[in-house]
Amino acid sequence: MIFPFNKRTEVCRKSSLLVPSILLTLVILVLFIVSWVMEDSPMSSLNTIDESHEGNKFEYEQHHDHNSVVDVQYIVPKALLDVGVYKEDEDFENERGIKPTYWRFNSSLSWGPCLPPLTPIKQWEDRRNYTTSVNTESTEDFEYLRPIFQQHPSTSIHSTVDQSRKDYKSRQQQLQRGGGCRPGFLIIGAGKCGTSSLYHYLVGHPRVLPAFEKQIHYFKYHLTKPLGWYYSFFPTPRSFLEHGGLMTGEASPGYLPYPQVAKDVRRIMKQQPHHDLPKIIMVGRSPLERMYSSYRYNYVYPTLEYLRKGRHRGIPKDLSDEEYEKYLFSLEDFVRSELAQLKLCLNWVDRNNELHKGFGAQMTFDQWNNQAEFRDALMKRNQNSSDAKDGPPLIDLDGSCYGSKVSSTVLRPQWAELQTQNPEKVIVDQNLHLTQAMIGRSLYTFPLEWWYLVFDQTDIFFVCTEELSNPETMRELALNLGLPSYNFSQVVDEGAYNVGGHRGYDKATSWEELQAERGGATLDAAKNQTNGIPITPSLYEELQEFVRPYNERLFQLTGKRCQWQ
Ligand SMILES: *[C@@H]1O[C@H](CO)[C@@H](O)[C@H](O)[C@H]1NC(C)=O
Ligand SMILES: *[C@@H]1O[C@H](CO)[C@@H](O)[C@H](O)[C@H]1NC(C)=O
Ligand SMILES: *[C@@H]1O[C@H](CO)[C@@H](O)[C@H](O)[C@H]1NC(C)=O
Ligand SMILES: *[C@@H]1O[C@H](CO)[C@@H](O)[C@H](O)[C@H]1NC(C)=O
Ligand SMILES: *[C@@H]1O[C@H](CO)[C@@H](O)[C@H](O)[C@H]1NC(C)=O
Repeated sequence: MIFPFNKRTEVCRKSSLLVPSILLTLVILVLFIVSWVMEDSPMSSLNTIDESHEGNKFEYEQHHDHNSVVDVQYIVPKALLDVGVYKEDEDFENERGIKPTYWRFNSSLSWGPCLPPLTPIKQWEDRRNYTTSVNTESTEDFEYLRPIFQQHPSTSIHSTVDQSRKDYKSRQQQLQRGGGCRPGFLIIGAGKCGTSSLYHYLVGHPRVLPAFEKQIHYFKYHLTKPLGWYYSFFPTPRSFLEHGGLMTGEASPGYLPYPQVAKDVRRIMKQQPHHDLPKIIMVGRSPLERMYSSYRYNYVYPTLEYLRKGRHRGIPKDLSDEEYEKYLFSLEDFVRSELAQLKLCLNWVDRNNELHKGFGAQMTFDQWNNQAEFRDALMKRNQNSSDAKDGPPLIDLDGSCYGSKVSSTVLRPQWAELQTQNPEKVIVDQNLHLTQAMIGRSLYTFPLEWWYLVFDQTDIFFVCTEELSNPETMRELALNLGLPSYNFSQVVDEGAYNVGGHRGYDKATSWEELQAERGGATLDAAKNQTNGIPITPSLYEELQEFVRPYNERLFQLTGKRCQWQ
């Protein structure tokens, strides 16, 4: 029994069913008023509701953890379906037969993505106070469903979906934060590949509610905080109900590169009732485009800002960008030195098809081979074995290729020559993980392979950045997440998010403006062998050669091919 609702009970379908639906609404209202009046004796009110909706298997358990008594409280969302907030035949299984994450009707421990309060997560309060105050009295509660249900019996989100397109910020302002609702998807990266755009497009779907921050990075930087802290960034059950929400999610590009994060997402989310996991989404862009974007965004802009503020000894502040240029390494400088390092690290095949065994595979093996999730794959892909059946060795690229600081002036082994020969040039000693890996972070297959070891293949989705501007890409992704079909053209038309300099995750740049900005480069590109990327043609060609097999590995892994140059 996949879907316990009987089709006969379907109500409120358009005007022909108006009369029965009003009647039903009245009946339900009466039931709720009865239960409301009988507030002091909750058990009897529970019984009333329970009996009237027996068989729905849509129950909630409320754990009163202070005295370890578990009261089972029946609130009947079926009634909410009946009044038109959700529609059982459209909302919980889409035209592809896919269900949105967490919406299972035989679970007594959650309501869609939302957990009842006082389950394993005990702290719901504002994140800034999460350690100091635990006020269980003020927690969000499934009781909240009751008055909302009473207030909104006639609101059909279906009648308002088409007009409901609002900008992200104003949608966000209508939501309440801090409930126990879990993300149904995580956009894990890659950085500088359009995670902001993808996130905004996805939450542009009327049934997807935005989180209160695009990138929460809980599983990377905040694991010492309680899970309640994490969930406080997502909308409450009340907000889900008021907006007919089916899903929420977040986008943290810092998740992708780390095997540990993949492991932790699974371990931590699995502790929650009925064991669904968020879907994993990765967006990838032409590797050399990403590399250039990363150079500007993670090196040029922050370094210029640092120099303008006069924070570097011996370099005056408030000069023009042109005057600062001589203090910056070029993209060519960075890429040449990183490429040499990557060749030392990766098992790399040169133009004569010779394999150069890198140090990364062994380092990775030694580091991860004691982890149950990964041991098997590491064995089957052992670089010592000529017949490793499951492919080339796994490599934890971020974790093993770049080494640590050589000295206070040489920040990474790969820059030893660059930094000693050009002492006047500046690499700011922060976010080095981004600056060190301009090519590395474009080799998406290496980190993504670890996610495939931890998550089901069917729960990982890969999208090409170049296809994001096509509304059909988004429709396809949304359908695969179990959402109802939606035309994203209006959403996508708003432009790309957080492009160019750090304009902010929520700042859209129109496609016209982007076109104008890139117009020159595009024209040049016709004549220019490096597609507007400021490196020599020979290095460009060498890089293309270098990334090609890794692109292939990615396409094989994901079953999706991007049109990358
Ligand atoms: C009910 O939930 C269990 C796991 O909690 C799942 O394995 C099973 O398939 C579900 N049954 C239906 C009918 O959805
Ligand atoms: C955090 O707690 C302190 C002291 O209890 C209180 O004054 C402050 O307003 C709280 N901050 C937030 C954001 O709730
Ligand atoms: C590969 O072989 C070398 C030399 O025998 C050994 O030291 C190393 O541990 C082996 N590596 C793996 C991953 O088995
Ligand atoms: C989506 O809407 C746009 C205009 O809003 C329209 O041109 C396009 O044909 C629609 N796409 C589909 C698949 O219905
Ligand atoms: C191609 O364009 C880039 C950026 O406009 C420029 O730096 C580079 O020198 C050009 N390459 C050639 C071969 O003209």
